[in-house]
Amino acid sequence: MSSETERQELEELIRTLNYHSYRYHVLDTPLISDYEYDKMLKRLLELEAAHPDWISPDSPSQRAGSGALDKFVKVRHPGAVLSLANGFSAQDVRAWYERIVRLDERVSQSGFVVEPKIDGLTVVLHYQDGRFVLGATRGDGIVGEDITVNLRTLRGVPLTVPVQAGGPKPPARLVVRGEAFMYLRDFDALNQRLLEAGEKTYLNPRNTAAGSLRQLDPALTASRSLRLLTYQILSADGPVPDTQWGTLKLLHGLGLPVTDQAVLVKNIEEAIEASQSWITRRDTLAYEADGAVIKLNDLRLAADLGVVGKDPRGALAFKFPAREVTTRLQGIGINVGRTGVLTPVANLEPVEVGGVVVRQATLHNFDFILEKDIRIGDRVLLKRAGDVIPYVIGPVVEQRDGTETVFTPPAVCPACGQPVEHLAGEVAWYCVNAACPAQLMRNVEHFVGRGSMDIVGLGTKIVAQLVDAGLVRDVADLYTLTKADLLGLEGFAEKKADNLLTSIDTSQQQPLARLINALGIRGVGEVMAADLTRVYPDLEALSRTTFEELQRIEGVGPNIAQAIVDWFARPANREVLDKLRDASVWPRAAQQSAPAGPQPLAGLTFVVTGTLQGFSRETVKEFIQQYGGKVTDSVTKKTDYLVAGESAGSKLEKARSLGVKIIDEAGLRNLATD
Ligand code: IVH
Repeated sequence: MSSETERQELEELIRTLNYHSYRYHVLDTPLISDYEYDKMLKRLLELEAAHPDWISPDSPSQRAGSGALDKFVKVRHPGAVLSLANGFSAQDVRAWYERIVRLDERVSQSGFVVEPKIDGLTVVLHYQDGRFVLGATRGDGIVGEDITVNLRTLRGVPLTVPVQAGGPKPPARLVVRGEAFMYLRDFDALNQRLLEAGEKTYLNPRNTAAGSLRQLDPALTASRSLRLLTYQILSADGPVPDTQWGTLKLLHGLGLPVTDQAVLVKNIEEAIEASQSWITRRDTLAYEADGAVIKLNDLRLAADLGVVGKDPRGALAFKFPAREVTTRLQGIGINVGRTGVLTPVANLEPVEVGGVVVRQATLHNFDFILEKDIRIGDRVLLKRAGDVIPYVIGPVVEQRDGTETVFTPPAVCPACGQPVEHLAGEVAWYCVNAACPAQLMRNVEHFVGRGSMDIVGLGTKIVAQLVDAGLVRDVADLYTLTKADLLGLEGFAEKKADNLLTSIDTSQQQPLARLINALGIRGVGEVMAADLTRVYPDLEALSRTTFEELQRIEGVGPNIAQAIVDWFARPANREVLDKLRDASVWPRAAQQSAPAGPQPLAGLTFVVTGTLQGFSRETVKEFIQQYGGKVTDSVTKKTDYLVAGESAGSKLEKARSLGVKIIDEAGLRNLATD
């Protein structure tokens, strides 16, 4: 291929990939599958590897979080990055309106835009000739910090605008303001992962987003799924819309993410109505909104009205009622999780927060209770945001009367009475007793759950019955349950027993990824389980892997690698594996006759010799074929790789003499998962 054609291909790929990334991350309406996207990205990376001097700053490859910083450099904003005055009632909004109408009669003609007030943090994005060149935090509103490398990792930040060919042409210099934040579900998932890894959890989405953006290592920011919504043009060197509504339209047209919840209204009463309607609807947003922002639509008029301190007169934040309340902490209970992590739970005097009565809230971990000096009997500040589990913020120390008692973390597991353990460097305390009934229940619940073996009709109550009756001592026991066993339980008649046995039977067919997920290994969820099945054809192969080998798989860090190795090393778990195999619950990685996964081995011919650790002769062949490679019996000049295990003999000699590349098992996995 001529270098000119390659150059064109590269530019076309950058355009196409950026467009699809925008469809996915900004519009939320992808047109192609992740697989197609990844395939194009792979091709782009190949071209860039061959021509490093062609790498352009707007290439999607340049988002990757690499190159840690030593410190943040200060950036002066092109104009003051203002704040907002607050109003808490319709009355406050009317008073604000009266004040500004008195200052300028035109206010009554302007109309208003009402937008959700996102509980995140302001970021400032600079585009020069359509390229994202600089991103900064708000700082004190005059000077912020340069966080360009971190902002580049946010998928919602277009690296060039307009994103779509034929979109509006931006001014040569364009400085946009937006809010960076986290979806509540991403926040929950992050905390869940941290909890399972025994690490400290985060207190709320806002602080997490703020902390993630002010990371010196952009790889960390990249891992946090931060979002962006833009709403203001701070400065531009060409004509820009003179209304807020027009601004949102222009930003949207350029491909910058903009809320789809903004409304344009004619007068202040409509603005009040729109703001109030959010109070009841705020739970439907994917993120936490702490209010609505009412903005004069006429931006020139807004500018003429000027500022009071740091607050522009032309806009007002209508704050929603706080979802923070105080209540009494009556006691602290302990939850024993599936992996044995002990989590303290606040038992509260029931209290209403944002329309829901809350009786329990998380206290995160024992260090948190100690750090905040939370005592039983304290009045505590409690917050509920969206669907996030309610959490305790801290004690109201002023209201103590001396009867409060200090909480001592338990030395033994409240469920089984065995001593609890603490790993160096982790905040979590664990019950490590494999036979702990609380863990067993959580384990079985997880095993039969939706993303796992999906055994329909096996809810929490029945799991408890099975465990209590001693019928299920580990998850494999499910597969030897008999009808007579079930009929002996309260509430079971013929039909219910038959149905349950059928759904248990059906679950034997679940694919390997689900079974791996179902085992409940710390840090191994649905996605990781699926990744593992690309490398390991069955549980036998996975059980023989090593710490080093696992770490070569993308996304597997030392904690997860260790957790996997430890899980398979435990005799009780090995016994479960044997029992599962005996019960024919032994899926193998899906064989793709019409391969659907990536094919990094396509066009390569392999010969295998010697004894391999994680593969049998047959499974190694399947593995190579799954990734598009071909396996032959004898080494010739056409052989690309010899995979040599222990005590390899004459084939190894032959490969050496022909100059065929020789790799080991790990080398093969590397090639396949590259
Ligand atoms: S407008 C002159 N619009 O709220 C423009 N701010 O409490 C002033 N915020 O610092 C800001 N969503 O970080 C505006 N739709 C929105 C917003 C928003 C969130 C934040 C922003 C600001 C803070 C003021």
